[in-house]
Amino acid sequence: MPSATPSATPRLGIRSAGNVRQLSAPLWDSHFLRACRGEPTKRTPVWLMRQAGRYMQHYRGIRSGRSFLDLCKDPAMATEVTLYAREWLGVDAAIIFSDILVVLEALGLPLAFAAGDGPTLSRPVRDAAAVHALGDPIKAAEQLSYVYEAIRRTVAGLPADIPLIGFCGAPYTLAAYAIEGGSSRQFAHTKTFMYGDPGAWHALQQRLVLTLIPYLNAQITAGASCVQVFDSWVGHLTRADFIEFVQPHLTALVAGIAPGIPVILFGTETGHLSDLIAGCGADVIGVDTTTDLSANWERCGGPGRIAVQGNLDPCLLLGPRERLLAGADSVLKAAAGRPGHIFNLGHGVIKETNPEQAKALVEHVHARTQR
Ligand code: CP3
Repeated sequence: MPSATPSATPRLGIRSAGNVRQLSAPLWDSHFLRACRGEPTKRTPVWLMRQAGRYMQHYRGIRSGRSFLDLCKDPAMATEVTLYAREWLGVDAAIIFSDILVVLEALGLPLAFAAGDGPTLSRPVRDAAAVHALGDPIKAAEQLSYVYEAIRRTVAGLPADIPLIGFCGAPYTLAAYAIEGGSSRQFAHTKTFMYGDPGAWHALQQRLVLTLIPYLNAQITAGASCVQVFDSWVGHLTRADFIEFVQPHLTALVAGIAPGIPVILFGTETGHLSDLIAGCGADVIGVDTTTDLSANWERCGGPGRIAVQGNLDPCLLLGPRERLLAGADSVLKAAAGRPGHIFNLGHGVIKETNPEQAKALVEHVHARTQR
C-alpha cells in the first residue's frame, strides 16, 4: 500500500496528529478523514448513523428468515449490507454492520433480539459476583473474529477513497445494558448499582475497557480507518457523576486506541457533558439533535481543536422534502463551512424512513457544500 504524508498542518488533537497506520493516500486524503482531522475539504462529508437497516428494502430482503444476530455473525452478509447502503446512498464513509451488544455476548451474557422488543440480556449483571463471573477480555475480543472478517471483506469491496468506520458501545452504555438486561427509561438498576457499589461499578467498567481496547484495535488492524464509540445513554448522568463514574474509563479506552485513527465519541442528550466528553480525548464529538452544534463546538474548544459530527433531526426525513432540505441547510449554516464538520443525523435513521429521502439529503449536502 502506498503511504502518504500529512497534507496539511496537523490539528492540535493528541491522537490523530500523524499517519501512524500508514493509510493509503486516497484514504488519508478522503473528505471524511480530512474532516475528522479538522482539515479543509472540497465538500462537507456526510454519512448517516444506522445507514444500513430496516428502512431499506434490500436489508429487509437479506434479513428475512434470519435473526438479526445471525446476520451480524455472517461476514459475507454483513459485508453485503454495509456496502449496499454505502453505495446506494453515495455517502462518504461506510460503517461496519454489527451491533454494540455483541461484546456483551462475547463476555458471556446471553443476548437475544426479540422482534419488536429490542435487545434482551437474560442474565443481568446486578452484583460484584456477576461482574467477576464475566469472561476474559482478551478471549472475548478474540471471539468477535466474525466482525474482523466482515471488516476485511468490506474494505476489499469499498472504493479506495471511502473509509470504513469501526465501532463499539462505550463502557457506560454497555454497562447500562448489562445491568438493566435490556433497554430502559430511567436506568434505575444501573444507578442503584453505580451508587451502591462503586467498587463493583469500576471493576465492571475496567473489564469492559480491557475488552473494548483489543476489540477496536483488531477492527483497525482488519481495515477500519476511524472508530466511533456510541455512548447512547450517558446523557442521563450529571456532570459530577460523569466525572466520578465514567470519565476515567472513557479516557482509558480512547488512550488505548491505535494512534493516527480518529475517534468519534457520540452520545445523545449530552449537551451538558460535551466538553467533558471531548476532554476524554475525542478527535470528533458527535452532536445530537437536542444540542446546538455551533455552541457545542466552541464549548469543546472549537474548530482547530476538535471536529464535530451531526446533527440533523432524523425525524425530518419523515416530513416533506422542502422541510428536510431546509433543516439540512440550518445544520450547514451552524457549521458555517468551518473545517472539521461531518454532516450526520443527531441519532440513527428510524425504520419508517423512505430511503429516497435519505438519498436526497446526501445529494443536497454534497451539492450545497462544493468548495
Ligand atoms: O448502519 C449502522 O449504523 C451500523 C449498524 C448498527 C446497528 N446498531 C444495527 C442494528 C449500529 C452502529 C448499532 C449501534 C447500536 N446498537 C446502538 C448505539 C446507537 C444508538 O442508536 O444509540 C445501540 C443502543 C444498539 C442496541 C440496539 N440494537 C437496540 C436498542 C436495537 C433495537 C432497536 C431497533 O432499532 O430495533 C438494536 C437492533 C439493531 N441494531 C437493528 C439494526 C439494523 C435492527 C435489527 C433488526 O433487523 O431487527
